[in-house]
Amino acid sequence: MASTRVQQESAPLPGAARLPEGNGSPATAVDLRSDTVTKPTPEMRRAMAEAEVGDDVYGEDPTVNRLEQRAAEIFGREAGLFVPSGSMGNMIAMRVHTRPGQEIICEERGHIYNYEMASMSAIAGCLARPVRTPDGILTWSLVKEAIRPRAFYRAATGLISCENTHNMAGGKVLPPEAANEICDQAHALGLPVHLDGARVFNAAVALGRSVREITAQFDSVMFCVSKGLGAPIGSLLVGSRAFIDEARRQRKTLGGGMRQVGVIAAAGLVALEKSPARLHLDHENARLLAEGLAALPGIRLDPAEVVTNIIVFDVSGTGMTAAELSARLKEQQVYANGVTPATMRMVTHADVDRAGCLRALEVMERMVRRR
Ligand SMILES: Cc1ncc(COP(=O)(O)O)c(C=O)c1O
Repeated sequence: MASTRVQQESAPLPGAARLPEGNGSPATAVDLRSDTVTKPTPEMRRAMAEAEVGDDVYGEDPTVNRLEQRAAEIFGREAGLFVPSGSMGNMIAMRVHTRPGQEIICEERGHIYNYEMASMSAIAGCLARPVRTPDGILTWSLVKEAIRPRAFYRAATGLISCENTHNMAGGKVLPPEAANEICDQAHALGLPVHLDGARVFNAAVALGRSVREITAQFDSVMFCVSKGLGAPIGSLLVGSRAFIDEARRQRKTLGGGMRQVGVIAAAGLVALEKSPARLHLDHENARLLAEGLAALPGIRLDPAEVVTNIIVFDVSGTGMTAAELSARLKEQQVYANGVTPATMRMVTHADVDRAGCLRALEVMERMVRRR
């Protein structure tokens, strides 16, 4: 029943757009499936080739150590931990903050709940307590209704997890006031709050504030260098020294202890230092795409709501399902995946420029007017 399932973020269902086999994308291809598809820049490749390395399980990889220190500095935290993926970072945070048998509150469309292979239950042993929101924005007034009263016959709430930006809600930014209220009120009840900040640098750019400011109240933050920041692999956790010490043990438990991984961390360092300064370009391109799409017959979205690099839009008025439209776009080397049968997602990133977005719009226009 693949057609009725929500499509995966990073490994699409059979039939979803995949690039042709070969050494890379054809020159005219416009790949809007995700910001995870970016290839390392020449500067990243040089840094990778020249990286000083050591055994990171012994804490002896100087490049990894530098990346972890820089991440901690940038976020104003005591320590950082390099992990292979965002999913592993979130999973480790869940395992550190909770005990099996507890509940984790998250937004209903959240990545941690929908796209992380049920690791919340399978590996952390917790039950998801998803909260429905109109727009993907968790607020304290919604969260507090989902908190379990302390009673011997009820599973206790163990963690609240927020997502910023919110991927499936179209790259929405969690307002810092809403985040701070959730954290303050949760802390008053003795509950920790984790941030899935896979794209938190996009949020910071959209708000014109630093990641440090907008994440200060969270107990732990996961962010990815492998998405909008353009590194080939990797994510980081940041938090207190005690949190990171335990997270390091959990990473090893999950098989995430890596050895001479400075060759990857080196690209992460370049991404961390250089890429945030160019994210506004991705946001401008996303807005351009959103405005163009909104003008097409059968497509529904509000371009004013597109404030970062993700656009989720309704295609049901085109008379095609998202999968059908995705397949037709693919024939013209424009790659975008469906989220549900009625909705599609496009994501801008460093390897798609304004001209690419205009080409995608042109192809899209031909597709929807052809019917
Ligand atoms: C919001 C969010 N969190 C976490 C992840 C997981 O990252 P990874 O693919 O590195 O496991 C993703 C991946 O797309 C994401 O969009």
